[in-house]
Amino acid sequence: MKYIFNMKQLRKRTIKLLVLLSTFIVSFILAEALSITISPSTSLSLAQALPTCSAIPRLLQAPDSKTSAPLPPTLSSTSVPGPAPRIDRVGFPKNYQNAFKLIYVVDRPDNKQVRVICGNEIAAAVKPGQLFPYGSVFVMEIYRAKQDPDGNVVKDEKGQYIRETLTAIYVHRKEKGFGADYLENRTGEWEYIGYRPDQTYLPNGAPGKTNACAACHLKLAGQSEDYVFRQE
Ligand code: HEC
Repeated sequence: MKYIFNMKQLRKRTIKLLVLLSTFIVSFILAEALSITISPSTSLSLAQALPTCSAIPRLLQAPDSKTSAPLPPTLSSTSVPGPAPRIDRVGFPKNYQNAFKLIYVVDRPDNKQVRVICGNEIAAAVKPGQLFPYGSVFVMEIYRAKQDPDGNVVKDEKGQYIRETLTAIYVHRKEKGFGADYLENRTGEWEYIGYRPDQTYLPNGAPGKTNACAACHLKLAGQSEDYVFRQE
């Protein structure tokens, strides 16, 4: 009798243990699949928490054949180009779509664009009010927003612009001693370059032609923001 009782008890315990064990294994597999960190997440930095640059919360629509070819964005084609660095020390950031973090997206009604702003790990880890360390790189993808035949911007069901064609990739990089060639329009140690998606230079983004980039970032973003536009 005693023996049978003990067997029952043992079986119960074994089942309990098995259930516990399998629950643990299943939750571990689930967490792995959803890539949730199980270890204490104290070291999770700001940059790691951000999605990658390619995870843009906007639809991307193939251009329809009726719309005319997109024009590269003109910024200040009328202004006299001021002094600017004559060599490209910024460099096209290859693989930024996967390597950079998505910081924010803006719909621009003034020029019917969607702008996607991404930063490398160094830049993305910077908190509001902090200066950007050397090695910080930002990318701004400029897309033509989808428009109807009358030139009105078409919106998706969330009321956001739809990205139609990528027209430009603006990049700036901060390194020690950068930016001196902009003279009075110098924005700290940042240098600017404007690329086409095929990595050739835009007329207003080529080496020697980027004074207007610095001038605008100096005027509108300013020293207190380290010349970078940040969204709260
Ligand atoms: C007329 C003003 C103006 C000019 C000229 C300009 N920018 Fe900007 N730039 C902005 C604004 C404003 C933003 C913030 C995004 C937005 O609201 O469109 C920005 C954002 C950026 C960003 C994203 C990171 C940041 O600083 O916020 C990069 C990179 C950038 N610009 C590079 C360039 C380059 C390269 C050029 C020249 C080829 C240039 N910009 C010319 C106004 C300007």
